[in-house]
This record gives sequence, C-alpha cells and structure tokens, in this order.
Amino acid sequence: MSTAIATIEAPFMSTGLPLFSGYDHKIADLSEEAIRFGRKEIELAEHEMPGLMALREEFAETKPLEGARIMGSLHMTIQTAVLMETLQDLGADIRWVSCNIFSTQDHAAAAAVAGRNNNGIPVFAWKGETLEEYWWCTLQALNWGDDVAPTLIVDDGGDATMLIHLGYEYEVKGERPDPSTADNEEEAVVLQILADVQDAKGLRYWHQFAEMVRGVSEETTTGVHRLYQRVEDKSLLFPAINVNDSVTKSKFDNVYGCRHSLVDAIMRATDVMISGKRAIVCGFGDVGKGSVDALRGQQAKISITEIDPICALQASMAGLDVITVEKALDDFDIFITATGNKDIITADHMMRMKHNAIVCNIGHFDNEIDMAGLEAMLDTGDVQKIEIKPQVHEWRFTNTTHGPNGGGHSIIILAEGRLVNLGCATGHPSLVMSASFTNQVLAQIDLQENAESIGMKVITLPKHLDEKVARLHLAKYGVELTKLTNDQASYIGVGQEGPYKPGHYRY
Ligand code: NAD
Ligand code: ADE
Repeated sequence: MSTAIATIEAPFMSTGLPLFSGYDHKIADLSEEAIRFGRKEIELAEHEMPGLMALREEFAETKPLEGARIMGSLHMTIQTAVLMETLQDLGADIRWVSCNIFSTQDHAAAAAVAGRNNNGIPVFAWKGETLEEYWWCTLQALNWGDDVAPTLIVDDGGDATMLIHLGYEYEVKGERPDPSTADNEEEAVVLQILADVQDAKGLRYWHQFAEMVRGVSEETTTGVHRLYQRVEDKSLLFPAINVNDSVTKSKFDNVYGCRHSLVDAIMRATDVMISGKRAIVCGFGDVGKGSVDALRGQQAKISITEIDPICALQASMAGLDVITVEKALDDFDIFITATGNKDIITADHMMRMKHNAIVCNIGHFDNEIDMAGLEAMLDTGDVQKIEIKPQVHEWRFTNTTHGPNGGGHSIIILAEGRLVNLGCATGHPSLVMSASFTNQVLAQIDLQENAESIGMKVITLPKHLDEKVARLHLAKYGVELTKLTNDQASYIGVGQEGPYKPGHYRY
C-alpha cells in the first residue's frame, strides 16, 4: 500500500490513475457497437419506464433542476441511464459512478457517455472494478473540477455520502487518515484515498465540499439506515430524502424487483435446476419476501431465518419453515442472504455445507457472507479459490471429508458475496425501477426547491407523491380505478383525489 505523499497528479494506489484526473469519463468500452447496443436497450427501457417519461413531459418547459449539479452513485445499468437522462432533461448537470464494483452494464455506460445531441454524461464505472478503482471513480464523479462539488447527490448505499462525511471528520480532528487502522480491505482503501486527498488538498477540502452539497436522496434500506444513524449522533452534514421508504419503492423494487432478478442471477450464473432444491433465505423483510416468491415460482423447498418475531410469524403464515442457518448446513442446496446485516453466513458454516452448495447475497454489502474469513483461509491453504467464470467461483476446502470420494467439498459463491442480482444478472427490470427512479427524481426536485428548509434531517416524500408515482404506472397494466364519490370520501375521511391512506398505514 502506498504511503508516499500524494500529489494531484500522483496515481492512486495500484490504479495507475491520477488522483484528481480531470478526465471527462472512464468506462470499459466506447466502441460504436457498445454505444449502439446501449442506446437500443435504453429505448426499450424507456417504453417500460412510464413514470420517468411522464416527468420528462411534465417538466419539459419549467426544467426544475436547472442549475443543479447532481452526482449519482448508483448501479450504472440501462435503467439508471434512463434516470440520468431524465435528470439531464430536467436541467441538471450530472456526473455518475456505480455503487458496486460488479453492477455496471458497460454498454449502458457507453450510451450514457456518448449521450444524445452531443450531451454526453461523465461516467466513471465499468464491470469488474477493483476496490481501489471503485473509490477512485467515486472521487472523480464527485469533483466537477477546480474543487467544485455537486449541489445534490443521488446515493445508493451511502458510499458517496460516507466519503464526504469521513473526509470532513478527519479534517475536524486535524488527523491524517491511517489505512493501517482499518478493519478490512475496503476500509483501508477508503482511508488511503482520504489520506491522499488530504495530502494533495489540505485540511479544508471536504469542508468546502460539504458546504456546497445541499442534499442527498438515498435509494436503499442500508443507505437509509446509515443516514438515520448520522441524525442520531448529530453528524449529518446535509438534508436527506429517504427514497427507500416511499411505498412505491420498498414495497415494489425490494419485493417484486428481487422476485425477478434473484433467480435470473442464479440461473445465469450456474444454470442449476432450482425446482425441488432446498433453499434458505436469511432475512424475511422486503427483499427476503421477494426472494422467497422467486424461489417458490421455481418450486424450490424454502426455509427462512429471522430475528424478528413479526417477520417470522409472517413467514409461518406463508407456509415457510423458520429455522436457523445451522439447521440448514447439512442438506440445503442454496443459501441466500437478504438481511442488510453482517456475519450471516460464516466461514465455519461454509465448511459444513454440502458439496456444491450455492451461496449468494442479495443485500447491499458483501459482509453478510464472511468473504474475509474465506480469504484468510486461502492464505493458510485450507481452501482453494477456482474461477469458473467472472463472478462465479468454486471454493474447494482442502481439509474436509464430505466431498467426492471422502475428500474436500466445494461450495459455489456468486458475485464474490456482493449483490448477486446486479453482479450475475442485470438487476431489476425497467418497470419496477421506473417506480423507484420516479421517486428519486421527485426527491431531487424537492431538494432543489426546499433543501434548506428541511434542515439536517432525513425525510420521506409525502403520500400524495407516492400515490402519484403509482398512478403514473397504472396505464401500463390497463388499470381502471374506481372513483370515490364525495360522500364516500368524507365517510372514510380522505380526499376524493387522495391521499387515500393515513401516514401510519402499512400496505
Ligand atoms: P428489511 O429491513 O425489510 O429486511 C431485512 C430483514 O432481515 C429484517 O426482517 C430483519 O429482521 C432481518 N434480519 C436482520 N438481521 C438478521 C439476522 N442476523 N438473521 C436473520 N434475519 C435478520 O430490509 P430490505 O429492504 O429487505 O433490505 C435488505 C437488504 O437488501 C439491504 O441491504 C438493502 O439495502 C438491500 N437491497 C437490495 C436490493 C437489490 O436489488 N439487491 C434491492 C433493495 C434492497
Ligand atoms: N437496483 C436493482 N436493480 C437495479 C437496476 N436494474 N438498475 C439500478 N439499480 C438497481
């Protein structure tokens, strides 16, 4: 690891890329074919994203995001490209990075960079980044040049928000971040990039940055959790909108999105027959429920794990066995983590699993499965890692005796323990992402118009906007809504045009 004093031009760690590159993009493939493929898929997606297309029409004249500099840290997929171009059409100047090292669709990045009408977007993302490249990309997307920061951020998981907050906190303490104090490989990279930035720019860089950022809208459960922790310890530096907890986000994307993309990923990665296999889903929240539905569709035999009695009771009512992971180790074929928590499947668990068990994670971060524990076993020779293809690895244990012929057994780990649906497939389909991203655009408009009045808080969008997002997607399904009479509306105490439910209603 580099400890040399960094300059603006010095390469960041092993990337070979200047710390502050000034590049207007860095992606894998800007060939004509990649651009064509990306653009054609964006056109198909637009047809399936009526919410975003309606906002483009609604705000074509008023351009409510004019003057905003929006940095996005969110999977660089085809669906995200439609979001990016919508933000652009509403007047924003944007820069983008993926929020996961494996989730970029390179043709989506190509089409976004090529742009429409010579209006290409600076994108820093490619499929299969190293962690060092990932954090370098985040820094490039955050910096508009001359140390100009974004005014708004679209975050997914909170990495961009975290980098600014952590950099700021080291400046307050007057300390140089020290990678040798890190608990894991990724934290060491984060501390190194912050140390290099401090060496190059001094002790006010992130302070100036944080002053320029007016707000962030956060996409996912785990990122939202990080934001509420910051409110609790009074360290939040700018207002935030919790997009995840719009009903039209978490009760759709997290559930129905995962219902589509979980089995898509397992099938693309392994081609294994899921029907009749024993599968366990750890966590029966929104993502867990969608994952279970997906496996049910394949007629797998499904159990779940939970810590929460309410979710456990829901699972029981759904006819599922609620067990512990330990009970599944001997005879389950597929293990899926969906908790947003850490240390769900340990290295010891994996040593006890049956031969060729498939292990994957659909929660945001890679610490649900103890990949660090497995890596440590690589060093001691207790396990071998064999690449079957990118994002699909056989881990062969050398000292177990329940593999073929009484030798070591193997397990198959997908996407190196990271989000399997985006690492081994292409994430959720456009229609469900349209609902999520329509909320994102509405949140960005709200921040652009009202950030300062929100204060250092996390808020959700009002229910009438949630209902608007749903309404924009009904025509796709030929839905004919029943209209309340005036009399009925006053009888149940709602407006004739909504909102139709009180804030505490849980759907
Ligand atoms: P959630 O809070 O609704 O569900 C998580 C569930 O896990 C909860 O019911 C909780 O009780 C349970 N849990 C926590 N610790 C556990 C443990 N040790 N063992 C068993 N169960 C445990 O959250 P969610 O919206 O379902 O999100 C889960 C994760 O998925 C988050 O990290 C989120 O950011 C991520 N996410 C991923 C995608 C994707 O496309 N892959 C989409 C949306 C959300
Ligand atoms: N999260 C889950 N699926 C996604 C997709 N297709 N694009 C962006 N973010 C996602």
